[in-house]
Amino acid sequence: MSGSEPGVAGAGTVSANDPGTVGADDPGTVGANDLGVGGRPYGTADDPAGDGRTVAPLGRRRVDVIERRAVGAYVVLAAADPDGPAPDPGQFYMLAAAERWGGGEDERPFLPRAFSVLRARAGELEFMLEDVGPGTERLCELRPGDGLWLLGPLGSGFARPREGRRPILVGGGVGTAPLAILADTLGAAALTLLGFRDAAHAEGAALIPGARVATDDGSRGHRGLVTDLLAAELGCDPRAEVYACGPPPMLEAVRALTVQQGIPAQLALESGMACGYGACFGCVVPTRGGYVRLCVDGPVLEAADLERVE
Ligand code: FES
Repeated sequence: MSGSEPGVAGAGTVSANDPGTVGADDPGTVGANDLGVGGRPYGTADDPAGDGRTVAPLGRRRVDVIERRAVGAYVVLAAADPDGPAPDPGQFYMLAAAERWGGGEDERPFLPRAFSVLRARAGELEFMLEDVGPGTERLCELRPGDGLWLLGPLGSGFARPREGRRPILVGGGVGTAPLAILADTLGAAALTLLGFRDAAHAEGAALIPGARVATDDGSRGHRGLVTDLLAAELGCDPRAEVYACGPPPMLEAVRALTVQQGIPAQLALESGMACGYGACFGCVVPTRGGYVRLCVDGPVLEAADLERVE
């Protein structure tokens, strides 16, 4: 997720590989659920509900930004989170700057923005940001020592690969974020395919070493869609299992490809998120089994459970 601007976790920008955020000016997005994948989740710690997901401590907590670095067109923000549980790949956080986040003179009020966690290690969290509106612009301004309000980890993340399946990770734009922490978990077994609009955005591929790249303008890697690369891989390997995060058109292409070929796929969907914990029903999406709240039942959903990604 990456906010469009009430709070979304997922992708960002506009292009074929990387269309852009959903929402007003920059919500926050996330992706992942547990439909049909019960019993295979990653979560092990902090799981009082016994459903495999890591559960956030109650209430938001103020943490310190410890690093900010530019990665091509993106910003990676690192924050110390010594008291939070380790997140599962695909889970997300609601973020807000501790200062100048609405309410002041000439400031518009911001809802927190939802972002998939990029990486987590030793009490530190990293997030991948793209400046697509006032909320993400403010977050991109943060520097080491600045305060950050953080709520999470939230939602239900990616499930482990099914027995004998080869994981293929497919991302578009800031949809790279949840795939990085997943790639860390899967190790060399996973193949990663990433799509971006141009070379500046494609620098984000450095966040997952070894990733193969497609760009809309052909300035780096394959000229065309990342799903072109996926289609070629699926043609060679019917034992694949696909993990994807990116803009809705990319996810719909992944859904259609994998369902058609009977290949399991987990899609981290984007949605505007206001609360992040199931209270506002602003993130509801239809599935074959009825409506679900992406912030609680997702953001990761099984492709086979969806009629379509819109
Ligand atoms: Fe999902 Fe509020 S964001 S219910």
